[in-house]
Parts: sequence; structure tokens; C-alpha cells
Amino acid sequence: MDTLVAGQVMTFHGDPFEIPPTEAVRVDSDAAMLLRDGRIAAIGGRAQMQADHPEAALTDFGPGLIVPGFVDAHAHYPQTAMIASWGKRLIDWLDSYTFPEEARFADRSYATTIAERYLDLLLANGTTTVASFCTIHPGSVDALFEAAEARGMRIVAGKTCMDRDTAPEALRDTAQSAYDDSKALIGRWHGRGRATYAITPRFSPTSTPDQLDALGRLWAEHPSCLMQTHLSEQTDEIDWVRGLYPEARDYLDTYEAHGLVREGALFGHAIHLTPREIDHLRASDCALIHCPTSNTFIGSGLFDMGARQAERQRVGLATDTGGGSSFSMLRTMAAAYEIGQLTHTALHPAQLIWLATRGSARALRLEDRIGSLAPGMEADFTVLDLASTPAIAQRAIRAETIWEELFPTIMMGDDRAILATCVAGVQARPA
Ligand code: GUN
Ligand code: ZN
Repeated sequence: MDTLVAGQVMTFHGDPFEIPPTEAVRVDSDAAMLLRDGRIAAIGGRAQMQADHPEAALTDFGPGLIVPGFVDAHAHYPQTAMIASWGKRLIDWLDSYTFPEEARFADRSYATTIAERYLDLLLANGTTTVASFCTIHPGSVDALFEAAEARGMRIVAGKTCMDRDTAPEALRDTAQSAYDDSKALIGRWHGRGRATYAITPRFSPTSTPDQLDALGRLWAEHPSCLMQTHLSEQTDEIDWVRGLYPEARDYLDTYEAHGLVREGALFGHAIHLTPREIDHLRASDCALIHCPTSNTFIGSGLFDMGARQAERQRVGLATDTGGGSSFSMLRTMAAAYEIGQLTHTALHPAQLIWLATRGSARALRLEDRIGSLAPGMEADFTVLDLASTPAIAQRAIRAETIWEELFPTIMMGDDRAILATCVAGVQARPA
């Protein structure tokens, strides 16, 4: 049955880092979308759409702002229960909090509990797609893909691979078992329903060159998979990589030497880059994933969005839960704005929303299916209440443009601002 969804509808007409943001991103204040078979069939003015489709059931969100479902381009679902752990920087934070928690995912029922909890938190926050790391346990990957399938969500995930003695023994695989387990998971999940598999070496410090080589071969055998990892998040980490890979030209080269740098590669953080790395990432059309709440929470540094956009890099936006301190892409946009201010780039609200939707979808190479509202796209969308709290409402009421009205929700909004989250045309939240 056809459904009409009415409200204020946001559509994209270009890249807001290439053309003026308010030309690239437009809001029709009295619009409707026709949904059919999980996709958007048409978008137009509300009155015309109602006249054209009198048979369709109407869901009216009034002044609610309908935006594409948020796309979180880098997260660690196994870190859900240890988010907001105090007082450490990257390497100590991994050793003290992250690895002990990830070891618990040897228990498949624990993995299922956290996977379900995590995806429900995402939906409550308006996020309809995530690219998540799992743990080294294949069961942790099955748990997440199953939970996403049950919710109808488009998802990207992969088994985290670590075979160096820099990782605790309970969290180590081998080059061969990482290859074999990842291959079996690709066979089970890649392209099934809305699932995409990402080959996932955690980062160079916890993999041997043999393991990176095996995963490079696996990717060559399954080129439509994505590859996700970390790059140049903290300066201590870069020094560590230099010691472990004395022959490498730089951090990126540790991946490049094993066939892991090409289109479809997703590099989390990518803050402290050399000119060679910047040039090669651009030439290879890799995606850089900005994780702003994580970069301040773990004390990593400032991603230079203005410089990366001027170079025309492919950039996504992400929470990096639980190094990131939030499940919310609204909070993540606010943090991206704040880091932009510190790097002398005032990001326009239209640029922030675009990064959290189409920008991240482009990073994941899913922009032909999700990340924007247009005929033919999958009907994943989120409806924002632009006056969700008294503090936001009293500011929004003085706004003269939709951008001035939206910005307080970006800066101060949380899950209370999510009026509804719809996945493939079905309302997932509130249930
Ligand atoms: N680098 C390697 N692993 C991780 C992780 O789990 N979180 C973050 N923020 N950085 C990492
Ligand atoms: Zn990460």
C-alpha cells in the first residue's frame, strides 16, 4: 500500500562544499513524499501529492523536518557498554577499557544483547545506517548483522582482525584465521538483504604485515566489499607505527604495501597526515571519516575539514562510539561545528546535515541507495522536532530562516528531537 508522509522535506541539489550550501540543500516547508515498497516513489508539494494520490494513507508530521536517516560512518558497537570511560588517551584507553570489554564478546549471547541494545539506541537517535567494527569473534559479526536484519536496517560491518602481541591473547587471531573467518562471513552476509561486509583490520599496530597481506588478498578476491580501519588518530600512535614498521614511508604506507588503499577504503580519524598521505588518499579516492566527539574525548587532535574539503577528499562523519562520547549524530554534528571553529572553518548547518547523511553515504559508497530523499532512494528517513526542549524552542522561535531554526537543534538537540525514525518506509521509532 502507498503511504504519503507530509512535513517539511529536505532535498539535496549538489555538494554544499562545492556550491553555496543553501543552493545545495533545500527545504520545502509544505511537502510530501510518496512511499512504495520501501522506497521513495515521488516528492512534491503536499496539496498536489494528496490530489494525485488520494488512495495513499497519510502520515502528517506537521512542522517536523524530514531529513535522510543519519549515516554513522564509523563506530564500534562492542563499546556500547563502556562508552564514557574516564581519563585515558588512545593506547591506555584501549588497554584499560576497550580490550577487556571486547573480550566479553566471546559469549555469543552477550554479543546479541549488546547488538540489539546498540541498534535500538541508534534508531532512537535517528541513525538508520552504521558502519561498525565488531570484535575478533565471528559470532559478534553474526549478532550485529542479525539484529540489523531483524530491524530492516542497511548496515556495514566486519570482524575486527588483530594478530600481533600488542593485543591481549584473548583477542588475537592469526593471519590465516582472520582470512578464513572473514571469508566465511563475506559468504554469509555480504549483499544479503541490506548488508555490506567491510574487511576490518583494527589498525596497523595490532596486525602483522602477514595479516595485512592476507586481508589485502581477501579484498582483491571480494572487491565489492569495503575495507575499514584507523589511520593517524594520535601522534603517539604514529610513533608506535614507525617503530613497528621501520620500512614504511609513513602510516598510510603500512596499508598501501598490502593492497588496502583504494576506492572503498574507509580510514577513521585521519587527523595527523603528511602531504604524501593527503595526496595519495585523494588520488586513491579513499574515504576519511571524521569522528569529532572521539577526537576531543580521547584528546586526539583537530581534523581540518576546510583543508580536506578544499582538496576534494571524500569525507564521512561518525560517532566512533565508544571512543566517541555519544550515539547521536546531532551531537556529532555539533562537535564537528566546534572543531570547525577551532580550525577556522564555520560549517554551515546545511553542510553539517549533508555530512551526516549524503556525505557519509558517499563515504560508504551507498549514495545511490541511502543518504538523500529523492525518487528511487530507499525510504530511510528521520523526522526532527525543531522545538524539542524549552531551551531549543525559545531560540528557534526567533529564527528567520530554516537554517537559523535548525541550528539550535544541531547544537543542543538529542534523542528528544527525533520525532520518528523510518527504515525502508516503516516507522521504527517510536515503535
Ligand atoms: N584505534 C584502534 N582501535 C580503536 C578504537 O577502538 N577506537 C578508537 N577511537 N581508535 C582506535
Ligand atoms: Zn574507531
